[in-house]
Amino acid sequence: MNSSPRTSAAPAQPLLDDRPEDGVFRVHRSAFLDPRVFEMEQTRIFEGGWVFVGLASQLSKPHDFVTTTIGRQPILLMADEHGHMGAFFNSCRHRGMLLQPAPHGNRRVHVCRYHSWAYDSAGLNQHISEREQGRYLPGFQAEDHGLVPLPRFARYRDFLFASINPDVPELEDYLGEASHFLDLMSAQAPQGLEFLPGKVTYTFRGNWKLQIENALDMYHFSHVHVSYVELLKKRPLLPEMGGPPPTGAAEGEQGSFSFGNGHAVMWRSRSRASETLLAQRRERFAPHMSDAQLKWSGYGRNLTIFPNMQMVDNVTSMMLRVIHPLAPDLTEMRTYCLAPLGESPEEREARLRDYEDFFNPSGFATPDDNVVYEHSQDGLGAIGAGWTQGYARGMDRSDLPARNPYQDELGLNEAAWTVGPRSLGDETCFHDAYRTWARLLAG
Ligand code: FES
Ligand code: FE
Repeated sequence: MNSSPRTSAAPAQPLLDDRPEDGVFRVHRSAFLDPRVFEMEQTRIFEGGWVFVGLASQLSKPHDFVTTTIGRQPILLMADEHGHMGAFFNSCRHRGMLLQPAPHGNRRVHVCRYHSWAYDSAGLNQHISEREQGRYLPGFQAEDHGLVPLPRFARYRDFLFASINPDVPELEDYLGEASHFLDLMSAQAPQGLEFLPGKVTYTFRGNWKLQIENALDMYHFSHVHVSYVELLKKRPLLPEMGGPPPTGAAEGEQGSFSFGNGHAVMWRSRSRASETLLAQRRERFAPHMSDAQLKWSGYGRNLTIFPNMQMVDNVTSMMLRVIHPLAPDLTEMRTYCLAPLGESPEEREARLRDYEDFFNPSGFATPDDNVVYEHSQDGLGAIGAGWTQGYARGMDRSDLPARNPYQDELGLNEAAWTVGPRSLGDETCFHDAYRTWARLLAG
């Protein structure tokens, strides 16, 4: 089926129909199809705001480097000889060639492959080949020839963020109360978090916002991932890895928090982690945690830091994925197994086995999601069918308490929330991302 982008509807249509007073929240199909929308997303969201670019542990040694992209622009992160981290455009100052094509490594000097201009790990130009013979004018000689630093680069705990836009707010302000959940991830790793070797990159033929939705979508789980659930029922589990849910967990509750700026978390109070596994881990991180963090470390959570980072903490394993939109109907995903530094070999093995089960194109769940995205992209091409109805679950709040006890427990003051049984499949946790998206597209 042809899902090529349509260009006819977006400018004439509001992309978001957000009328809470009428109980209406709808996203227009053009949001997933129109190349003009995609262009605005690139310039105003990915290249216009903060995005996640890496983990501090990737630059733990002098001269470590990592390359990535912000929107469509290539980026080079480096630790200099003193271990100070910097972020630069990955583009030679001479004729603009990609300076470092490797995804990561350790280099004291980066030499451009075209005419051999060379830069050190602090981004300073160290060499212009045959400079004396070059008949350069004084104006050129006086110029700085070093790599161009990114306007903004900041760290929050183990997580590195950067922006091409100098006018973004401070990173802490951008993250807001979503930082409580980054704190929770980092608190489980007193020595820091690391990506395990073996990054996986894959693409799906669909719009990037399908991925944003899916990570917060509890509704799909028992429908799309039936084969995964059935497999788990049949397989004897390693006692270290999982088993019956820990005693004392609230039965089958789920909820979400939306933090503004598009960040949100969907949590569930049950996990497969066995008491054996939880006890092992608590021994390592309990002294560094509040009581609330200790309790919540046993809850499953899917966290989105808008627009490009998602973390799934199954308790038994942790996955971090980075979203790179390539076209309205093409998205590249880079996924990593995220783990605390200093785990025992047994804990690490249990984490890896569980990670392999669910995640990546080789797992038992990610391929199902990717097929769903591709068929969704095809189906959304039916612009004549009008608005979809997929953002309405959970909008009736009449039976919710005035205060959410979980919110108080975590010390969250400003987050929007919902809570309910596992069958709720809340869709209101998508709303903040789309409101943020619409606000940023409107400039
Ligand atoms: Fe890099 Fe010429 S483009 S040295
Ligand atoms: Fe899924």
